[in-house]
Amino acid sequence: MNVRITGTGSSLPGKILTNAELEQLIDTTDEWITTRTGIKERRIAADGEYTSTFAAEAGRRALEMAGVQPEEIDLIILSTVTPDFPFPSTACIVQDLLGAKNATAFDISAACAGFIYGLSVAEKYLRTGAAKKILVIGSETLSRIVDWKDRNTCVLFGDGAGAVVLEASEGDHSLLSTHTFSNGSYWNLLYQPGSGSRNPASASRTIDERLIYVTMEGNEVFKHAVRSMEEAAVKALDANGLSQSDISLLIPHQANRRIIDATAKRLGVGSDRLFINLHRYGNTSSASIPIALDEANHQEILKHGGKILLVAFGGGFAYGSALVEW
Ligand code: UT7
Repeated sequence: MNVRITGTGSSLPGKILTNAELEQLIDTTDEWITTRTGIKERRIAADGEYTSTFAAEAGRRALEMAGVQPEEIDLIILSTVTPDFPFPSTACIVQDLLGAKNATAFDISAACAGFIYGLSVAEKYLRTGAAKKILVIGSETLSRIVDWKDRNTCVLFGDGAGAVVLEASEGDHSLLSTHTFSNGSYWNLLYQPGSGSRNPASASRTIDERLIYVTMEGNEVFKHAVRSMEEAAVKALDANGLSQSDISLLIPHQANRRIIDATAKRLGVGSDRLFINLHRYGNTSSASIPIALDEANHQEILKHGGKILLVAFGGGFAYGSALVEW
């Protein structure tokens, strides 16, 4: 059964936080952030904006492009590390917001690789005939879990959502393959220590010790990111009998310009075949790839029949790749 991407959508907060503004908040400089990360600005949720509201808007836009009504959707898979609540799933809230009353809805937790994991699960539902039309969403409100006093992390992240509609039907924009990987030995290099069952909410511990915020061993994560994204990308190419020169566009997870450039270099992909919007949005975790895919789609740089390679890496470690023939 052929699996197609029939619609893309994204939604970003209107509020922009620039590096110059961050210079006023913490001990940092535009020069440090730009040279070490490539980020110039990021979008930050306003009051009344959450992971579900971005997700629903991105989903609505993807459905509109696909010409699919919300009631036709069988399944909503939402990837996030910043759900509206620990439970119920944010996917259920999005189901309600969209009026997708015939859908089953659930969340996936695979950090920055979550959208690829979502595509992978959706692909199996569609290929087995268990579903016909699926909405896969990556949505994050990371500004609510970063420590705005920690310059090591708060400059890196941003908010937003991206979505695709996947359908089991013949035609172009085919999802050729997905590959997912996990390496749990490194779970504690990038995580949010507080708020779960191990460190439940407590004023003296999770609040005072700042356990409720993202913590990361940046240098270690960096090294693994480059190696793992290369591994996932090569797996996708091998599985499809393709070589690096067949890639029309590489859309990597947008975490750090130096990680993106090192990965692209290892894959032999030049800047003319590399999609980057990190400078405008920062790291939006699982939303970064679907936002980038939607932007590339609207900019009409996705050529008919071209091979688009999506590759992501993040906390867990969880990583993966997807290959699409546009
Ligand atoms: O999304 C999923 C995965 N996440 C990633 O892939 C992120 C991976 N890691 C990274 O992107 C990079 O490691 C960072 C951007 C987080 C950090 O870059 P780095 O080149 O690894 O810097 P560093 O952590 O080695 O820090 C270098 C210095 C430190 O100062 P000292 O100890 O050498 O005096 C930091 O305190 O830079 C300092 N520093 C800053 N200075 C100004 C850290 N953050 C800042 C800052 N402004 N915002």
